[in-house]
Amino acid sequence: MNEIVLNNGITIPQLGLGVFRVKDGEEAYNAVRYALDAGYRHIDTAAAYKNEESVGRAIRDSGIAREDIFVTTKLWTDDVRAGRAKEAYKESLQKLGMNYVDLYLIHWPAVGYEKAWKDLEDMYLEGQMRAIGVSNFHAHHLADILPTARVLPAMDQVESSPSFTNSELLAHIRSLNIQPEAWSPFGGSLDKNVLKDENLLQLAAKYGKSTAQVVLRWHIQQGNVVIPKSIHKERIEENLQVFDFSLSDEDVALISSFNKDIRAGSNPDTFNF
Ligand SMILES: NC(=O)c1ccc[n+]([C@@H]2O[C@H](COP(=O)([O-])OP(=O)(O)OC[C@H]3O[C@@H](n4cnc5c(N)ncnc54)[C@H](OP(=O)(O)O)[C@@H]3O)[C@@H](O)[C@H]2O)c1
Repeated sequence: MNEIVLNNGITIPQLGLGVFRVKDGEEAYNAVRYALDAGYRHIDTAAAYKNEESVGRAIRDSGIAREDIFVTTKLWTDDVRAGRAKEAYKESLQKLGMNYVDLYLIHWPAVGYEKAWKDLEDMYLEGQMRAIGVSNFHAHHLADILPTARVLPAMDQVESSPSFTNSELLAHIRSLNIQPEAWSPFGGSLDKNVLKDENLLQLAAKYGKSTAQVVLRWHIQQGNVVIPKSIHKERIEENLQVFDFSLSDEDVALISSFNKDIRAGSNPDTFNF
């Protein structure tokens, strides 16, 4: 497993399991256990996914030391608007059954994100989590917080897939020494995802890999942290088998050229939740 060093010096496994739309209870518990058994050491959840309890229980039951697993959770928009970052973080920790997370993100730039960032900075500077960052922040959202920031966000988690490469934003994030992380790396859970795309199927045949593996490799070779979601044991295992082959530079560029600028999720400038 490749690891990436974040701008505050801590490391994050480059690939993790995402658990958006994974039901609390058996479904989330099993997905996390399958992932940890397969060798994942990075789990991406959020207060809004309503499965932090099962994620925490699966991590405890795995027998793997807490400090060997990188856990991300996120501050939801209602709590950004209500100015409740500090309370919401405590609630997430309680649900997870943990006394810290590795990375705490502002989930979306809801009104009040500048104050939320200051609250995250306070908590980080008190040592309450190992890193703080943002998600769904465009260049102008970052520009709003950076001039007065006491802490440079370690991460900006944004949508990126072959059908919505988001290349310009990713390059901008990198230029600020912030690590980009790709959500919906396959184009999401609904029927929009790219895994049956004819061009990708051809590349998969060329490398003797699945389309999912080729797409994950494309993210990895661009230096993105990536968090594919699955609830199926075989797919969770398959998605980790991406460190034993490389795409040619031409094929990385070819996959980027499949961009259609079609988002799977909401636009951070117009979201309504
Ligand atoms: N920050 C944000 O605002 C934000 C927004 C969206 C997502 N995220 C994060 O990003 C993670 C991933 O994004 P996502 O869940 O939207 O979608 P995704 O990872 O792009 O795609 C997940 C879909 O692909 C399927 N799949 C997974 N592996 C597969 C494989 N090897 N072969 C065939 N199908 C496969 C899954 O089905 P099965 O589960 O049935 O296997 C599911 O339908 C989320 O879970 C979440 O942690 C963050």
